[in-house]
Amino acid sequence: MSRPAPRPGLRDIDYYMVGIAKLPGFDRVFKLSSNESPLGASPRALEAAGKVLENMHRYPEVDMERLQEALAVRFGLEPGRIAFGAGSDDLLARLVQTYAGPGDEVIHSAHAYMQFPIYAATAGAHPVAAPDDDFRHSVDGILGCVTDRTKVVIVANPDNPSGTHLSGAEVRRLRDKLPAGVLLIVDAAYEEYAAANDYESGTALVAERDDVVVTRTFSKVFGLAGLRVGWCYAPPEVIDLLNRTGPSFPVNLVAKAAGLAALADRAHMEAVLAHNAKWLRRFSDALRDMGLVVYPSQTNFVLVRFPGSDGTSALAADRALQSQGIIARRFAVPDFEDKLRFTMGLDDEMEAAIAALGQFMSGNRG
Ligand SMILES: Cc1ncc(COP(=O)(O)O)c(C=O)c1O
Repeated sequence: MSRPAPRPGLRDIDYYMVGIAKLPGFDRVFKLSSNESPLGASPRALEAAGKVLENMHRYPEVDMERLQEALAVRFGLEPGRIAFGAGSDDLLARLVQTYAGPGDEVIHSAHAYMQFPIYAATAGAHPVAAPDDDFRHSVDGILGCVTDRTKVVIVANPDNPSGTHLSGAEVRRLRDKLPAGVLLIVDAAYEEYAAANDYESGTALVAERDDVVVTRTFSKVFGLAGLRVGWCYAPPEVIDLLNRTGPSFPVNLVAKAAGLAALADRAHMEAVLAHNAKWLRRFSDALRDMGLVVYPSQTNFVLVRFPGSDGTSALAADRALQSQGIIARRFAVPDFEDKLRFTMGLDDEMEAAIAALGQFMSGNRG
């Protein structure tokens, strides 16, 4: 008997590898692998989440107006241009699926967020990996890949795993040079961390044009990764399509309440940003002093390149770190074999990581 057949190509999609969270023999691990917030969620978000639990037998209210309003006030946006998803991953997948299908092409940078080609292939479209510039998006590299089949271009800004960013001027140049009719998706999951003077929120472009969408999330600086709530800022037609085609209740009851409270707690967010800026600088400086290459980051993590000779490979470093209970992120794909990514953690976690890497580098240099 023949089994029901999925759409062609779906079985060929590679799994997205999430970061590991446990190590045998360690009760407490130092998890620097998933770009989560080390300071956790705001106490106000925890309290708000607790309060709505008694209603968990009810569907969440359909209207998301309070959260829309709160985001609009916080970031100076129009509430009607905001839609929600179960994490920004959910929105990214739905956006790609809405604008690209079989026979279409979706362009992403070669070393960008590794979910992008998965979303394209899931939609039945062809993912096209554009050449980048030493792990940083290249506008010309992307433009060089455009064909008449291109439907979507998707750029994470700042990017993951590299942590690098494109200036506002470069994003605008990309949009201006893309053909009309191509949707530009700017995935700004790490936007709140971006401190570079030339970084510009993509939301300004959304206000000016009808062919740009920006996705954002409560998972990173707001510390709600486990609740899964993301949002996007988009032209009215895109919002309408997302609302027509999405699930009835994209955001759960607890996520909605916690999101609202997290947004209101500015002090918590400022503390998270200050902690991150401190460790981004200290950790990057310490690793550079050890002779490691640290990619410039506008996020809450850094990508680090290991020399690879005399035993100082990324794999060996990863093993040495894990033997001390420290989990970095290794991507077992060819261009990342000499690299590890480290999320900024708590003070003791970062101190331990610097000490362990120092030992590893000096031990292997003899
Ligand atoms: C670049 C980028 N985009 C999107 C996401 C998805 O975030 P979430 O679905 O938690 O909003 C992540 C998560 O790590 C990410 O790194």
